[in-house]
Amino acid sequence: MKIEFRYEPIAQLNNSALVTYAFEGSPASSGSVERLPTESRSLLQELESAGELSGKPFECTLIHRPPGLVAARLLIVGAGKKEKLNSAQQRRLAGTAVRYLKSRGVHDMAWVVAGPESESDCIQAVIEGALLADYDADCYRTERDGQRRIDRLDLALSSAPGEEAEAARERARIVAEAQNFTRDLVNEPANRMTPALLAQRAQEMAKRFGLECQVLGPEEIRALKMAAFWAVAQGSEEPPRLIVARYAPPDAPEAPHIGLIGKGITFDTGGISIKPSENMHEQKTDMAGGATMLGVMQAIAQLNPQVRVTAVVPATENMPSGKAFKPGDVITSMSGKTIEILNTDAEGRLVLADALTYAKQLGCTVLIDAATLTGAITIALGNITTGVFGWNKEWVERVLAAASTAGEKMWALPVDEDYRDLYKSSIADLANTGGRYGGAITGAMFVGEFAGDTPWVHLDIAGTRWSNEEKPFLAKGPTGHGVRTLVQLLTNISTRGTE
Ligand code: BES
Ligand code: MN
Ligand code: ZN
Repeated sequence: MKIEFRYEPIAQLNNSALVTYAFEGSPASSGSVERLPTESRSLLQELESAGELSGKPFECTLIHRPPGLVAARLLIVGAGKKEKLNSAQQRRLAGTAVRYLKSRGVHDMAWVVAGPESESDCIQAVIEGALLADYDADCYRTERDGQRRIDRLDLALSSAPGEEAEAARERARIVAEAQNFTRDLVNEPANRMTPALLAQRAQEMAKRFGLECQVLGPEEIRALKMAAFWAVAQGSEEPPRLIVARYAPPDAPEAPHIGLIGKGITFDTGGISIKPSENMHEQKTDMAGGATMLGVMQAIAQLNPQVRVTAVVPATENMPSGKAFKPGDVITSMSGKTIEILNTDAEGRLVLADALTYAKQLGCTVLIDAATLTGAITIALGNITTGVFGWNKEWVERVLAAASTAGEKMWALPVDEDYRDLYKSSIADLANTGGRYGGAITGAMFVGEFAGDTPWVHLDIAGTRWSNEEKPFLAKGPTGHGVRTLVQLLTNISTRGTE
């Protein structure tokens, strides 16, 4: 998508569609509609009086040959209540316009920039919304919706763009492309996204954007004594990979050194504690945490925040076989802590345990993990909100603040000593499950045991990684949820330090 700024009068723009938004209550005379010439505004007034234009969220009204405009079409997107307009809503409005137009074979559009936020925030939200909405997940259909694309987006400003506008455009493109990269990885089925193929995609990305990327195989994983990771990997014919990507700008301070650890289960059958067959195909997305971290790395390699970051992604399948680990097995994790396996389907926390230990060994001073860890988080928060966990209040707050800026919904859930009893083992240091009650919390806390005293934040994205319904502004399928928040967090650390 080619994205350009325009600042001639709106009436002169020659796009296939000019897009404005309108608020509920007075749709013909509110929102960016106000920037239209009077001829088209009076037509909108007629539509409003006839009850055909309401301004309700995401309502789309398309007018051909609009009076007073050179553009071939005028699209009015309902923006809902005026008080509720913010960057997150702008992102969705722009996305709605993109999906509406591209499904009708329109390939170029002009968006009339207006809103209560700063011009650069507006620009960033609109471009992100447009690029995210242009994505479709049907890449293996021979006649795919995804072939219909918006290839030109003009942003109609009221005056010539300054440096801030240019920077916002660049930042938005980088962030949205990174999020779409994550969505591509999550979307791949397990036969096309084995641990080796995930590692290959990581290496290609790293090479393209100038990051260092190291990939360890089975022998190296065993030599590092990653027995918890190995326990999960041993049942699969597909050899595991440990992906390590480094971003270390020469002038960045030694600390904090952020470790981004992402669960990379390329398919989770449950192992010997096998999952029911219904919906098992959804477990192709069980590497979404790893894909999130690779997306974040792709973005920061281009944005250049002054902060050290190392991504660690343990990638393997979780399969039942004659070589698979079994309930009752006791393993000695890389940290030295022993773990009794009560359920082979609680595999994410095992691979994360060793990956966290390794990240600490690599010098990380803050650990952030993202994982499709538990079904329980979807019971608690649905598909809308990511669960955030951690003992360190300051870092949890930083993540929540970044999420709010980035327009991703995240909510802190508790960790508490009293839950520890739930995953005690009668034979080893820890058991790998804590039962059904509070399952997202005990899962998180199990992972946290391996962070030790290092500040740690866990994101459970099992609910948010995928959208089962198509939204007006987003295709059904992988969401890339979490990428924008973590990129924002790293940017915040770079500009504000850790005080
Ligand atoms: N990968 C699953 C979690 C999951 C569920 C992701 C649904 C996406 C959609 C995870 O490995 C798992 O199986 N968790 C178990 C843990 C239990 C055995 C303690 C769960 O949530 O049932
Ligand atoms: Mn599992
Ligand atoms: Zn899993």
